[in-house]
Amino acid sequence: MNILSLENIVKRVKEIPALPDVVLKVMQLTEDPDSTPHDIESVVLKDQGITTRVLRLANSAYYGYPRRISTISEATILLGFQTIRSITLSAAVNKVLMREIPGYGMKKGSLWRHSQAVAIIARHISRQNRMKDTEEVYVAGLLHDIGKVIMGHYIEKAYSEVLDMVIDSNMTFLDAEEKVLGFNHAQVGAKVAEKWNLPESLVEAIAYHHIPQEANIAPKMTCIVHISDAIAMMMGIGLGVDGMAYSISDYAMKTLRFDSNSQIDKIMSSVSDMLTDEAIFS
Ligand SMILES: [Fe+2]
Ligand SMILES: [Fe+2]
Repeated sequence: MNILSLENIVKRVKEIPALPDVVLKVMQLTEDPDSTPHDIESVVLKDQGITTRVLRLANSAYYGYPRRISTISEATILLGFQTIRSITLSAAVNKVLMREIPGYGMKKGSLWRHSQAVAIIARHISRQNRMKDTEEVYVAGLLHDIGKVIMGHYIEKAYSEVLDMVIDSNMTFLDAEEKVLGFNHAQVGAKVAEKWNLPESLVEAIAYHHIPQEANIAPKMTCIVHISDAIAMMMGIGLGVDGMAYSISDYAMKTLRFDSNSQIDKIMSSVSDMLTDEAIFS
């Protein structure tokens, strides 16, 4: 029996806070070539929490600037409009992703850690693939599991049923989620992205991050998120109970022209340095 109705989901999605005005405004400004770093700074400064976090991320070893970046306009000049936009979004969703997600066995901070790692790995792969909008791929990686914030509550209640199904029927955790609850976290995550009015390509990458072969608006980005998720799991970053029985899609491997596991090993070693700085996880 499905214990989760569409109505319940819609209600829960409504409870997820809206994106702050600062983020919406930064999104508009970074689309407009006439905007200046000062315009962006004056908007970001309206939110003290976001300002602090943007500066912390901009100063993390990941971006590798030898000098301390002390203002938002400096960060905008050095990192560029697209990056400042994804950092601002990242700073704004930090609180939601930081939560403890009990049903998936994720302690406070682990979903945030996993999401940041997947985002950074995804950006790395998209740069290697010379994709146009590498920052959109970063955001897709960051938000791919946002549905878990809602599902965690229900999974906790139905945990033994879901787990039995994984063990007895040799199902993936995702399929068991859907079978027992009527929805899986990817479908629910896509609803959150819709609520935030994010572009369709992002909604799709979230919806199909476990079944990338279903994507048709942004198949490459969806495949990158899928493989990056697998890589983060292999590296043990933010491993929840659903990390078991994760299967990598052959379709995604083919789409990205990954013909062997050695390419995955190579990515793991190049990203491991990027993922050592605690500033991106705190
Ligand atoms: Fe997922
Ligand atoms: Fe994930």
